[in-house]
Amino acid sequence: MIVSGSTSQALAAALARELKEPLAAVEYDRFPDGELLAAAPGVADAEPDRAVIVASTISSDAHLEVLQLQDAVREAGVDEVVTVLPYMGYGRQDKAFEPGHPISARAMARAISTGADRVLTVDPHEEAVCEFFEPTATAVDAAGRLAEPLPDDLVDPVFLSPDAGAIDLAETVCDAYGTGETDYFEKVRHSGTEVEITPSDVDVADRDVVVVDDIIATGSTMSEAVGVLRERSVGRVYITCVHPLLARNAVTKLSRAGVEAIYGTDTIERGVSTVSVAPALASYL
Ligand code: R5P
Repeated sequence: MIVSGSTSQALAAALARELKEPLAAVEYDRFPDGELLAAAPGVADAEPDRAVIVASTISSDAHLEVLQLQDAVREAGVDEVVTVLPYMGYGRQDKAFEPGHPISARAMARAISTGADRVLTVDPHEEAVCEFFEPTATAVDAAGRLAEPLPDDLVDPVFLSPDAGAIDLAETVCDAYGTGETDYFEKVRHSGTEVEITPSDVDVADRDVVVVDDIIATGSTMSEAVGVLRERSVGRVYITCVHPLLARNAVTKLSRAGVEAIYGTDTIERGVSTVSVAPALASYL
């Protein structure tokens, strides 16, 4: 039985269809004192052997919901709890950046581990975060599907990642598209919203470019990358990512930078989430 957190309701429904498993009735509420209540009365009624909780932890509330749903399905008597974190929040805080800082990804993983027999997550920033979980955690690769919404008529395309860390994603999307060159920019981050991008040597003049990253958060990285491309007589620019977090004014920032389109997956349910990771997840379930 598939159990959805409030942040991943469309993806959970798609996964239920893909697996031909029932989608549990769920309730999300908040008490007058601000405390949350996420419940799964549908699981208590159906008494399935397995519950698959699907919830992107895009906020602290979403994290708490996961813990509550895990507890609720155990209470309902299920034997196996599989927790699917399509987007794992805090995953980028995977080390203590200064003395006295927490390894937040590990803290989150440990808490979720207490209620899960198995964990799946999609294209984490660093696959090593999977080691923070106590049960087996698997990183599911969904980047190949990002080629699907791209136009068929890209002109001599270049698939660029804004930093070396995402070049694998750019190569995966390029391979899935079937033609093109790949390269990456050098990126230096000065603050949460300020990044500096140094162009690569690849000639982008009059060529269509697809910029590929694992996540767009504030949009600073992508808008800087697009700005650099615009100075170099690029053709059309498309941007695509696995996790379209798109915080604050990111969409406006990117639109003003002059992108043709923004594409993302439904690991985070936004208007640009045109690609579903449900088939990729289903193959692990
Ligand atoms: C960092 O290395 C990631 O791959 C992304 O480039 C980054 O997290 C995007 O964040 P923002 O959109 O805030 O620049």
